[in-house]
Amino acid sequence: MDKHCHQKYLNFDKERIAELRREMERHNQLYYQDAAPEISDQKYDALYRELLDLEKRYPSEISPDSPTLKIGGKPLGEFQQVQHVVPMQSLSNTYSEKEVLEFFNRLQKLLPTKLLSFTLEPKVDGVAITLLYEKGRLVRGATRGDGTTGDDVTQNILTIRSIPRVLRGLHPEVAEIRGEVFLPRDAFAILNTKREEKGELPFANPRNAAAGSLKQLDAQVVATRGLDVIFYGFGAWKGEPRFQTHMEFLVFLKAAGLPTPPRIWETGESPNEILSAIHELEAVRHNFPFETDGAVIKANILEHREMVGSTAKAPRWAIAFKYEPERAETILHKITIQVGRTGVITPVAELEPVLVSGSTVSRATLHNEEEIIRKDIREGDRIIVEKAGEVIPAVVGVRKDLRTDQQQPFHMPQKCPSCHQNLHRVVGQVAIRCINPQCPAQIQRRLEHFASRGAMDIDGLGEAMIAQLLESGLVKKIPDIYVLKKEDLLQLERVGEKSAGNLLSAIHKSKIQPLWRLIFALGILNIGTSSARVLAQKYGSIMALAKATAEELQETEDVGAIVASSIREFFSDAESIRLLEELEKQGVQLTDAAIPQKIDDSLAGTWVLTGTLSIPREEAANWIRLRGGHVTNNISKKTSYLLAGQEAGSKLEKAQHFGVKILDEEQFQKMIDPSK
Ligand code: IVH
Repeated sequence: MDKHCHQKYLNFDKERIAELRREMERHNQLYYQDAAPEISDQKYDALYRELLDLEKRYPSEISPDSPTLKIGGKPLGEFQQVQHVVPMQSLSNTYSEKEVLEFFNRLQKLLPTKLLSFTLEPKVDGVAITLLYEKGRLVRGATRGDGTTGDDVTQNILTIRSIPRVLRGLHPEVAEIRGEVFLPRDAFAILNTKREEKGELPFANPRNAAAGSLKQLDAQVVATRGLDVIFYGFGAWKGEPRFQTHMEFLVFLKAAGLPTPPRIWETGESPNEILSAIHELEAVRHNFPFETDGAVIKANILEHREMVGSTAKAPRWAIAFKYEPERAETILHKITIQVGRTGVITPVAELEPVLVSGSTVSRATLHNEEEIIRKDIREGDRIIVEKAGEVIPAVVGVRKDLRTDQQQPFHMPQKCPSCHQNLHRVVGQVAIRCINPQCPAQIQRRLEHFASRGAMDIDGLGEAMIAQLLESGLVKKIPDIYVLKKEDLLQLERVGEKSAGNLLSAIHKSKIQPLWRLIFALGILNIGTSSARVLAQKYGSIMALAKATAEELQETEDVGAIVASSIREFFSDAESIRLLEELEKQGVQLTDAAIPQKIDDSLAGTWVLTGTLSIPREEAANWIRLRGGHVTNNISKKTSYLLAGQEAGSKLEKAQHFGVKILDEEQFQKMIDPSK
């Protein structure tokens, strides 16, 4: 093509791009704001694809406000938080075939009269997402987040070519469609090569790369990464079509234009069929473009799923079978010592980098001294490392046959590598601890935990920044972060006006985080996010939690004797009280504003809950509390009511023995909502 002619085409295409953008903006306005669309979804989709193709041909013409990169017209600042209509749960995992059989038997026992069938599909090792389609149009894409709320990553999702903006064929009124975003293996290799060429750190594995890419604020960067997606589930669903089985649902997804797992096995009643499908998948899983660390086995019949429901975390109708992790041999150069948030000392193996299960491993935990002695691990040894999914790599064995007299037995230090005080062994425990509360390494770890994404979520306050703040003396303890000023931050290396401003606003924003985040952030031993949530919901404020007795605490779902005593221990320490007082003084909210008020006393009395209910147990317990009742764990003479779900066991017998009034779920539902 001569130059003149080429120019003519380019001008023509540029004009067409501008025209398409104007057209689409107009249709967006008509559809989203005026609710009066002029063209069919198919026509809209055709315009969209034409524009996308042109933009692909002329990347220099892509502008951040192109309708291909946005919905509803909002430019991208930071991710909005969105609440999923139906929460995104996780799956229970197992490595053992026996447990798969137990899963099968459990379901059969819950559904004794039903003929079961199952599906098996690859477990895609990527990042879970949920797409919201309304009237067949994609309106939002979000990450899983904490399961209840996630990041709105719509703009980024829109750069994934295999995600349709408009569903083909018959589509439901509203649908949350769930799947996994992943970075195909070859795209991962290319991305890492490019990063290394630019002097950037490579991603450890395709999953991290996918997660990192989805978190990019600039959708155009995401567009260059080559993400892809597979869908396998749904959340909220309103309207036709409806399905009886998972297989039917997957057929629908495919027909609607949504990518589904490359292979799906359907099995009948026989558990052997499930096991052989597991083995078949294991043999072919390396051929898929994504990493697969397991098989997901699901009850195929959707009615059965509803009947068995879920536990607090995961559905009862599905299980993930994980394949044995991969192992590799490498050299252990050095054993270093890490000090944890609670002062626990962990030896860490510094390794010659080696590829295991698709990611490069250069450090592995050695857990504790006993472990090192038991396995006789020495610096300079050739060792075997193993990486199992999420788990930190571990040293599983030593090639003693290759040992020379160069490798000498390892001895744990007597003093803390950070504060140089003597280390202590807790009686009856293998852990060695640094018990100096002022130990710099511990303070660093406590601050890291406090600010982390799962806790107070202070963006920009990561390991390196905290190290700088401690080193400069600007921060000595947690509350100090709330008195930081811009001038303070500007003294630090690599901190400019903008990043200082961002950090201060992130710190400020964290003052009104929900209570459960603060409870978790305090770093109370044995408290994870799920018990923090339950405690926040039950007590509503730090003050109320601090006053709770160990007995009362143990009456909380998920809280046993150990957790209760950790909580008591934390609040009986004067240091903790001082910490909380200082946080309050700095304006950190110690109460959940949104704690619901008691409605009435219609359920007054002492309640025990047992068996399987159709709603989560903690939700039932909250209803009881809202209506003046009191929920405990154990049946006694004093118990007023037992709410007995399906498969109620010994508590039911005990209640009968004590003559406690027994209610089934239907009766209970009527009590909490008399209109039912
Ligand atoms: S079904 C109620 N199917 O694995 C949860 N999950 O470890 C239903 N995952 O959170 C999930 N491949 O992000 C399902 N074929 C598949 C999957 C899959 C990957 C992810 C998903 C889930 C996690 C649990």
